[in-house]
Amino acid sequence: MTDPRPKQGKSVFIRTYGCQMNVYDSERMAGLLKPLGYGVAETPEGADLVILNTCHIREKAAEKVYSELGRLKRLKADKAKAGGEMKIAVAGCVAQAEGPEITARAPQVDMVVGPQAYHRLPELIAKAARERGDVLDTDFAVEEKFDRLAAREAEGPTAFLTVQEGCDKFCTFCVVPYTRGAEVSRNVDAIVAEARSLAAQGVKEITLIGQNVNAWASNPPAGVVGDQWGLGELCRHLARIDGIERIRFTTSHPRDMDDGLIAALGEEEKLMPYLHLPVQAGSDKILKAMNRGHTAEHYVKLIERIRAARPDIALSGDFIVGFPGETSEDFEATLALVDTVGYASAYSFKYSRRPGTPGAAMQKQVAEDEKDDRLARLQSLLERQRQAFNEAQIGAELPVLFEKPGRHEGQLIGRSPYLQSVHVEAPQSLLGSVAKVKIEGVTPNALAGALKTKEEAAA
Ligand code: 5AD
Ligand code: SF4
Repeated sequence: MTDPRPKQGKSVFIRTYGCQMNVYDSERMAGLLKPLGYGVAETPEGADLVILNTCHIREKAAEKVYSELGRLKRLKADKAKAGGEMKIAVAGCVAQAEGPEITARAPQVDMVVGPQAYHRLPELIAKAARERGDVLDTDFAVEEKFDRLAAREAEGPTAFLTVQEGCDKFCTFCVVPYTRGAEVSRNVDAIVAEARSLAAQGVKEITLIGQNVNAWASNPPAGVVGDQWGLGELCRHLARIDGIERIRFTTSHPRDMDDGLIAALGEEEKLMPYLHLPVQAGSDKILKAMNRGHTAEHYVKLIERIRAARPDIALSGDFIVGFPGETSEDFEATLALVDTVGYASAYSFKYSRRPGTPGAAMQKQVAEDEKDDRLARLQSLLERQRQAFNEAQIGAELPVLFEKPGRHEGQLIGRSPYLQSVHVEAPQSLLGSVAKVKIEGVTPNALAGALKTKEEAAA
């Protein structure tokens, strides 16, 4: 078989698991390796370097990494037989949480790099080449990471931009505070510089990301007097950058949803009317046991305030069923809350016992088949809400940002303000721009529509 990759240079294959933070980190790793001569490979076969950027949030996510490492062991042996060498690196949250265990369980791994250490990948690669054995780097130094990251290349009209990392909330089910460390905010100047560079490359929409993105706080930029800024001020500031037409942020915590951010959602048109605001459960007893720091009523009132400020806002959430001690009445309270709020989309999970978290040691763990039942009931309710929300768009005219060509000739796929995929017959020249689309139909996972004006359709 011929190798489709260019003969010059080396190749890196990166597989990303988990959240947007990892998607962003993977992009940055690719950017960091480029000056070292690494081109990005589409498959792991024959790559010089394979990076698994891992997720530790649920047991299944962590186990996937070990099965993938089994497959890579064979590819590494194939490459060695052919006289080449494949280095394997495990990055991300499994690396942080289980560093030494990984190299013990999977000796084919050459490097283990925590989420705050991947900017040191070039050094680690050089070190791994010099020494035999495995190299471990799982230090926490977020500021250093951001300082050392190279300027990035944009891919397409949308981009993630990390503004905050880490979490101090310590929900009792969650590993994030242990794997990603304490809350850290990037400073305004660094964020603005990255946003400007993205805009100059044609990016129209930026999604500000952070484990607790709305906990972001920092001093105002140089030359601006006044108190600390919160995410609302940051969004208003970024909205003034030429070329940036849409701003989103994720993931938010109900406790950090302050008045400044709610006002910005109401007043700043570039802020999209879509908010991911996880509540996890609807029973106050379970919310307390989860250490969420708020009640169901507080959440519902908060949503009312947000809707008063921005009536067209669509909501998304995360839910966990079967947290220890969750009775069927507690679960009914979750369904009731979902009914009250009404979600445009949502993610729901069975509780997964994570070693080292307080939840793992709690009494009254819920039986697996009970969790299955509850998840099925919750997901069917959430799915009905999602479909109803999509169907409610029929007849509406929505601004759509076209991101990529569709499967059929002459078709483009874009996103509505509510993050729905929209399929439209449209000229290629509209790729990367926003146009008004009249929504005409829904499919299970997307909307279909037509360009509003004849001029646009003919452009
Ligand atoms: N079990 C199940 N779901 C979890 N999440 C976080 N930790 C766990 C766990 N131990 C979910 C939460 C969170 C989302 C990112 O993942 O809903 O908001
Ligand atoms: Fe995990 Fe809770 Fe922090 Fe979210 S807020 S990252 S669920 S500990």
